[in-house]
Amino acid sequence: MTPLEQHQLEIRENLRSWDSKPLLQKIYSSFYERIIALIDPQLPGRIVEIGSGIGNLKARLPGAISTDLFANPWLDLACDGYDLPFKDHSLSHLVLFDVFHHLRAPNAFLREARRVLTRSGRIILFEPYISWSSFPVYGLLHHEPVARRQPINLADSLPRPRDYYAAQGNATRLFFCREISHWPDGWTVFHARAFSSFSYLLSGGYSRPALYPVACLPAIQHCDKLLSRWPRLFGARCLVGLRRP
Ligand SMILES: C[S@@+](CC[C@H](N)C(=O)[O-])C[C@H]1O[C@@H](n2cnc3c(N)ncnc32)[C@H](O)[C@@H]1O
Repeated sequence: MTPLEQHQLEIRENLRSWDSKPLLQKIYSSFYERIIALIDPQLPGRIVEIGSGIGNLKARLPGAISTDLFANPWLDLACDGYDLPFKDHSLSHLVLFDVFHHLRAPNAFLREARRVLTRSGRIILFEPYISWSSFPVYGLLHHEPVARRQPINLADSLPRPRDYYAAQGNATRLFFCREISHWPDGWTVFHARAFSSFSYLLSGGYSRPALYPVACLPAIQHCDKLLSRWPRLFGARCLVGLRRP
């Protein structure tokens, strides 16, 4: 098995858990709504989802091209986010759901994104957000590291050989703590919101059992809405939109 095939193993496990967990399906449905709200239907070109995993977003965005590193029957295409098989300036949006924190060299990805996106084209990122309350959950209960103090590789090219990379804290560090000033160079961050999601954290995600029944979801989502006023304390997820010059 190559290191990257770890992703394919996780996709298979996620598929099993998705089918048996209606709670997770409902929570993801609310996440997808947030993503769709950032789509600009006026932009010319197709929408491409990178790292689609088990491919559920496509049910909500049927016109999107679903892709991932490995071919799976439910996907449209196998491709690498660093090397996209699309013509220059042919796409309107790139959507990455829980994928950005797997990109060891975000600038190398942005370079490729800039090539394929049309003028004013958008990248939409949905990611873990590290706050005082979500840090212990992501840090202790999830197998991927938060990597709060690891250097982030800002090279324009991808280091080889390829390996499995995960750093759940990267979106928080780059888009909210603004650890690297003026980053991402040449892109406009038109949206960066972190929000509470105890409904997600307590659902156990793909890998752990849920700590509450589906019937309690509306009440917990209501609490999330209130707690989202204090993202540094209670944030757990974030949505970021970048616009190409
Ligand atoms: C945590 S999973 C998220 C899957 C799916 N988006 C979801 O939300 O269920 C991360 C996904 O990113 C994909 N991925 C990681 N690095 C990638 C890259 N360089 N190009 C394309 N996909 C990548 C993996 O194969 C995996 O399916």
